[in-house]
Amino acid sequence: MDRIRLSDTLEMSRLVYGMWRLSDDADTSPEHVRNKIAACLDQGLTTMDQADIYGGYEAEEVLGNALTPELRNRIEIVTKCDIVAPVGRYADKRVKYYDTGRAHILASVEHSLRLMRIDHIDLLLIHRPDPLMDACETGAALDEVVDSGKVRAVGVSNFRPWDWKLLQASMRTPLVTNQIEISLLHNAPFTNGDVAFHQRHGQPLMAWSPLGGGALFDEGHAKLRARLAEIGAEQGVDDSAVAIAWLLAHPARILPVLGTNRLDRISRIGDAGTVRMDRETWFDLYTLALGHEVP
Ligand SMILES: NC(=O)c1ccc[n+]([C@@H]2O[C@H](COP(=O)([O-])OP(=O)(O)OC[C@H]3O[C@@H](n4cnc5c(N)ncnc54)[C@H](OP(=O)(O)O)[C@@H]3O)[C@@H](O)[C@H]2O)c1
Repeated sequence: MDRIRLSDTLEMSRLVYGMWRLSDDADTSPEHVRNKIAACLDQGLTTMDQADIYGGYEAEEVLGNALTPELRNRIEIVTKCDIVAPVGRYADKRVKYYDTGRAHILASVEHSLRLMRIDHIDLLLIHRPDPLMDACETGAALDEVVDSGKVRAVGVSNFRPWDWKLLQASMRTPLVTNQIEISLLHNAPFTNGDVAFHQRHGQPLMAWSPLGGGALFDEGHAKLRARLAEIGAEQGVDDSAVAIAWLLAHPARILPVLGTNRLDRISRIGDAGTVRMDRETWFDLYTLALGHEVP
């Protein structure tokens, strides 16, 4: 599997395994989680995507219970912070909110390290743009966690170009990626400036819910799904591999973050890298996703 260099200290696999749904699985035993990670590693997929809030602030611990020192050294761990929701360790909060203050970022890093039983996070992302963000304070806190060695690299998620510029202007450390929603079903970032902004600066993007969180397989998208299956059948892969290949074909160097809990699907994630996608096929799928021909 291809690897993408994000900074001097960080390289990630082109396809990433997302752990948002990890604690929704009927089986969250350390052995089963290790089997999932092993299925990823067998294909060269080494990057795991977490967030403090996943599983009501429990998914990081589910991963931590499964990690051995040997396994930890074979993977890169991405995690996120700033969402405070009234569940788990924040059950006493009245409302859901974002916190990009220094104290929260530092405390969140400590929680993540402790729950995952690791001594550093490979990539820490600010999960959502915070309307109350004091860019100087947030930027300094991100510089601080990198300087301390607890975090190797920092980035953001769901940021628009102006949010990125505001934060980056207030810190020394370069932000290395933005994790945003991109898929056949959520294709606006290709034309609204989000992808173009990062492409202009040579920053790879991570794409969350690259299969529309499963919505791609709903009845409403039957025509698109049939075409994906047809292309897949010609190349010996399934429809989801073609949908992921559609993202890989874009020159912006997108890293899709896939979230299936099924071992059989996990063990086929790498198929996407084998799909040939010419320009005409890319537009064929784009046309079906838009529901009309391009102008
Ligand atoms: N930064 C953010 O704000 C943000 C937001 C959302 C997600 N994320 C990250 O992105 C990751 C991926 O998100 P996601 O789980 O929504 O991604 P996804 O890969 O688009 O969707 C996964 C869902 O699709 C289903 N699915 C997969 N293949 C299928 C198939 N062939 N037929 C039918 N259903 C299928 C899976 O069900 P099965 O489990 O049954 O296969 C699962 O429910 C998350 O784990 C998280 O790390 C980040």
